[in-house]
Amino acid sequence: MNQTLPVYIEISQNAEESIASFLASKKYSSVFVLLDENTKTHCYPLVKKSLKEAICIEIKSGEQYKNLDTCQFIWSKLTRHTTDRKALLINLGGGVIGDMGGFCAATYKRGIDFINIPTTLLSQVDASIGGKLGIDFQGLKNHIGLFQLPNKVIIDSRFLHTLPHKQLLSGFAEMLKHGLIADGTHFKDLINLRIDVQSITPHLLTSIQLKNRIVLSDPTESNNRKLLNWGHTLGHAIETFCLTNNTPILHGEAVAAGIIMESYLSEKILGLSHQECRQIEEAIDSFYQRVSLPKGHLNKIAEYVLQDKKNEGNSTQAVLLQSIGKAQHSIPLTMQQVKEAILYYIK
Ligand SMILES: NC(=O)c1ccc[n+]([C@@H]2O[C@H](COP(=O)([O-])OP(=O)(O)OC[C@H]3O[C@@H](n4cnc5c(N)ncnc54)[C@H](O)[C@@H]3O)[C@@H](O)[C@H]2O)c1
Ligand SMILES: [Zn+2]
Repeated sequence: MNQTLPVYIEISQNAEESIASFLASKKYSSVFVLLDENTKTHCYPLVKKSLKEAICIEIKSGEQYKNLDTCQFIWSKLTRHTTDRKALLINLGGGVIGDMGGFCAATYKRGIDFINIPTTLLSQVDASIGGKLGIDFQGLKNHIGLFQLPNKVIIDSRFLHTLPHKQLLSGFAEMLKHGLIADGTHFKDLINLRIDVQSITPHLLTSIQLKNRIVLSDPTESNNRKLLNWGHTLGHAIETFCLTNNTPILHGEAVAAGIIMESYLSEKILGLSHQECRQIEEAIDSFYQRVSLPKGHLNKIAEYVLQDKKNEGNSTQAVLLQSIGKAQHSIPLTMQQVKEAILYYIK
């Protein structure tokens, strides 16, 4: 792909050096690092030499802590150190740390600088690109937040070596998504890979470029950025159903299921060829186990689709594929079509 990255995104072979040169180019009054117990153990050692003066703020890992209580904890820490507006917050972690740390930085004293050092595959190819910041509120995902780009994103694939395999697979689903909606060659390159860091690393740049290109064309998601919700209309419903059913699954696992269901709908509604539909389904099945969804809960799962926050009025709007690499957004779905797609997946 003949496209470079914007200056704020850096693919780095050595995050420690990248941080050092970023800090040398600025004059921050103080530097904070937001991390969790996992990134403190596995990721901080790779960058700590360039952060000798920095103050660490440690929070607990997990989506359940992406909330206002944790923000209060972070803002309190900043306040206790009499942090002024010339301070920097470095978010060292996955999408939870990036989204929440960015939100805290963007709102503390009306905004201090922040940089993201994404350490999961999902956050390297997706969450850290595009400036969506936020937290969950009253059980609603990403309900409170804002759009603001970080001052820098440093992507170093060496962090991925300590990531559990399931997490790697979860992020890989978003890479497949990028290929399916915007670059068929990327999709075809990915489906022949083994899921390990060494195989995936050469393909990070293309995924990041694809996401960045879509975000740039529509920063606040009024149009083209909606394409990034491919696989997510039904995927989110599956994710919520599994969570409330006490069988939580990872986001990317739900998106993979959503991709199969939405490919089925793409064939029915938008004329995706049967051959490409089968190719997508076979690729997903080669990487992911089918999520177990009891037929008896069909109505409940379909209702979650209706509750999707991307809906407009009472109608469910989805992204569907015309062909691999070419997608269209804002396609209305009926309840009947949604149920059919779920049944198709369950078989
Ligand atoms: N802003 C956006 O555009 C956007 C896009 C997609 C997802 N998101 C958000 O991202 C979040 C999900 O992000 P995620 O999948 O990165 O999950 P996560 O941030 O919860 O991280 C997953 C787990 O991996 C651990 N971890 C992180 N890096 C590690 C490493 N290098 N080695 C070992 N363990 C490590 C974390 O501590 C955590 O337990 C969700 O909150 C979602 O809403 C945001
Ligand atoms: Zn996603």
